[in-house]
Amino acid sequence: MTNLYLNDEEQAMLNGAFGPGVQRAMEIVATLGRIYGAPDLAPITHAQIAGVSYKNIGDAGVAFLSAWAAEGARVRVPTMLNPMGMEEARWQEMGVAEAFAKPQLEAIGAFSKLGVQQTLTCVPYLLPEAGLQRGDHVAWAESSAVAFGSSILALRTNREGGPSALAAAIVGRTARYGYHLDQGRQANWVIEVACPVRSIADFGALGYLVGKEVGNGCLWFSDLGAWLPPLPADVTAGGAAADRLKTLGAALAGYGAVALYHIAGYTPEAAALGETLIRPDARRLRVESLAPAYAVMDANPEVSTIDLVTIGCPHASLSEIQAVAQAVRGQKLATQLWVTTGRSIRQHAEVAGWVHDIEAAGGLVVADTCAVVAPIKQLGIKSMATNAGKMACYAPAHSGVTMRFGELEQCIEAALSGLWPAAL
Ligand code: F3S
Repeated sequence: MTNLYLNDEEQAMLNGAFGPGVQRAMEIVATLGRIYGAPDLAPITHAQIAGVSYKNIGDAGVAFLSAWAAEGARVRVPTMLNPMGMEEARWQEMGVAEAFAKPQLEAIGAFSKLGVQQTLTCVPYLLPEAGLQRGDHVAWAESSAVAFGSSILALRTNREGGPSALAAAIVGRTARYGYHLDQGRQANWVIEVACPVRSIADFGALGYLVGKEVGNGCLWFSDLGAWLPPLPADVTAGGAAADRLKTLGAALAGYGAVALYHIAGYTPEAAALGETLIRPDARRLRVESLAPAYAVMDANPEVSTIDLVTIGCPHASLSEIQAVAQAVRGQKLATQLWVTTGRSIRQHAEVAGWVHDIEAAGGLVVADTCAVVAPIKQLGIKSMATNAGKMACYAPAHSGVTMRFGELEQCIEAALSGLWPAAL
């Protein structure tokens, strides 16, 4: 434990002058600061909270949130929510039981009372309304969002837990340690990729292999930029680069605990600072082939009948929704297809006609949730297919389904025929 400097206002929060809800929040933030040796607190511009689905938080979580909301605290910065266990507007249509929906809505109500925006998405970085600026200190809890925001937008955040992100939002500050500091952003792993990485599925497979190896390392990819189109200044519409990088970050964060990666000559800090970002004692890893990842992620080669094809983990961007819409337009699906996304992204896709294309074919563009946090088992789903690296192992672990993992084209083919096709 070290001395943590608190200014007068922060000390007053800790003393209870702003009420018990703020005091509880400052206790959490200050305790983390002391544990991790932070010198002081950094003001934040944005927060993002995970631990929203009733499937994960249960009755104890709902009671905890409701009690905090009843103490009268409100967030001080724009604060967004991760997906919950169902789409608010269509949970009955989705077949979600009332016994699940009721406490889920209670949790969302508590967040609302705290002033948290009901974005219900894991891709706050795709929302223009988030107003994120390069270099901002933020407090984000969704691990895939942390990886994308830190690496691609140069945001400064640690991997917060749900309660600590909420606490930071309530006091408008977070403890200044780890990835908030320059030294915490230096790479301790150099990764060389010696095989082709051509698609969203490939980037997820790469994230799996590297994440398993490096744990919570900070990464320097020395040659990955060769497999990426240029990164646009504005990533909010998605696009080939952003779509691949969001799945890479999700897999790195999900199979390891990676919060930050640099790509030589490509990501903002790497482009600005070059190899000075690599620590002299950095370890090295060379990836020769993605085949070992596919062997694990496409773990059920004997399964051919698919109950649900799911696209959008992390939540689908506009460009991903457009790609699915173009592929299924005018056709009839043989099995269920969910394209999961944030509600505001869905609205834009609706205006573009892509939601109609997908839903007229028999699919759903589902907002607010995903196939990991929704009660998939209770919906009778036994086999799934996806092109998303994180989903490939998370859904079997969380929902007990069998999984096929591969390219978007294979997933579309499975949705159209109900059967997983041979490799393309
Ligand atoms: Fe997002 Fe669900 Fe994947 S929360 S990162 S779509 S597991």
